[in-house]
Amino acid sequence: MAKSIIDLRSDTVTRPSPAMRDAIAKAEVGDDVFGDDPTVKRLEERMAELLGKEAAVYVPSGSMSNTLALLSQTSPGDEVILDRRCHIFNYEVGAASVLGGLQLFPMDGPEGLLPIDLLPAAVRPANIHHPRTALVAIENTHNRAGGKVYPFGQIEAVSRFARGKGLRLHMDGARLANASVKTGIAFERYGAFVDSITFCFSKGLGAPIGSILVSDAAAVAKARVWRKRLGGGMRQVGILAAACLYALDHNVARLAEDHERAARIGRIVEASGRYRLAFPVETNIVIFEPTDAGAGVSALDEALKKAGILAHPFGERFMRMVTHLDVGAGDMERLEALLPGILAA
Ligand SMILES: Cc1ncc(COP(=O)(O)O)c(C=O)c1O
Repeated sequence: MAKSIIDLRSDTVTRPSPAMRDAIAKAEVGDDVFGDDPTVKRLEERMAELLGKEAAVYVPSGSMSNTLALLSQTSPGDEVILDRRCHIFNYEVGAASVLGGLQLFPMDGPEGLLPIDLLPAAVRPANIHHPRTALVAIENTHNRAGGKVYPFGQIEAVSRFARGKGLRLHMDGARLANASVKTGIAFERYGAFVDSITFCFSKGLGAPIGSILVSDAAAVAKARVWRKRLGGGMRQVGILAAACLYALDHNVARLAEDHERAARIGRIVEASGRYRLAFPVETNIVIFEPTDAGAGVSALDEALKKAGILAHPFGERFMRMVTHLDVGAGDMERLEALLPGILAA
């Protein structure tokens, strides 16, 4: 029998399980552009309630959710403060600038966190020369900082600061479920300190498609207009919302398993001596680099592929491995048998 691939490139590679497909098959649907899809409504209401907010809007992707969050809480010419490594700044094809006419103000903080002491100087004073600072965005967990959980005290501090300055605070919580499972802090507590949240079902939670933007009713109403304008109004999309509801019911608590498996991979990396962790492993993402300052990861990438292991190089220097629903106990056994030798070669 051909050996199966262990795909650690991302937690987005999961395939819907038979039980999730069953939920999809049985979904009650209607035309969601007319507001008629009961399953989408159920998902939106449930997420708004879970995060302690007034409303939610279901969207095809995390990128669209972040874009709608920014566009519905700012005006063209405004400025958005975020950290330099975040998804919005690096991986959303400049959507905030192209579509929202926004200027992004990236800051450098440790492990993807905003440097709180530097925030006051980042807010533009009212002056005819300056853009208006309108919004602050944080990412939790932080993808490029190795799945870093935003410490709750720092979220409170950023929130206090933003509110004190009359700025909106958005959380890209594509992996908020990972953060919540890791910390034991309920979604609602996170929701209390931010104005809007992006939450993804198609990452560690294993749904095939779908993210949601959760916020107050006025911001969500504006986001709905933007979603339609961008061609994101969907019809009998309850078949996808059903997968997301299934994911919420069945796949949240088990994220702890992914975290434990990522920690095991992290220990193998550290033990290799040839590679070191770029960030401590806190959730399901492992990012590492060669200990040799001049070395890269392309040969490692090839060696892993030959062994049936897929990982994701971040540029020349860094390698990322992500654990998820479709990396099972058998895969971990194989990985633990193979990886030490591959890293030592
Ligand atoms: C932190 C973060 N935010 C947003 C996104 C965007 O999600 P999508 O790929 O669904 O657009 C990703 C994707 O990996 C992500 O890691």
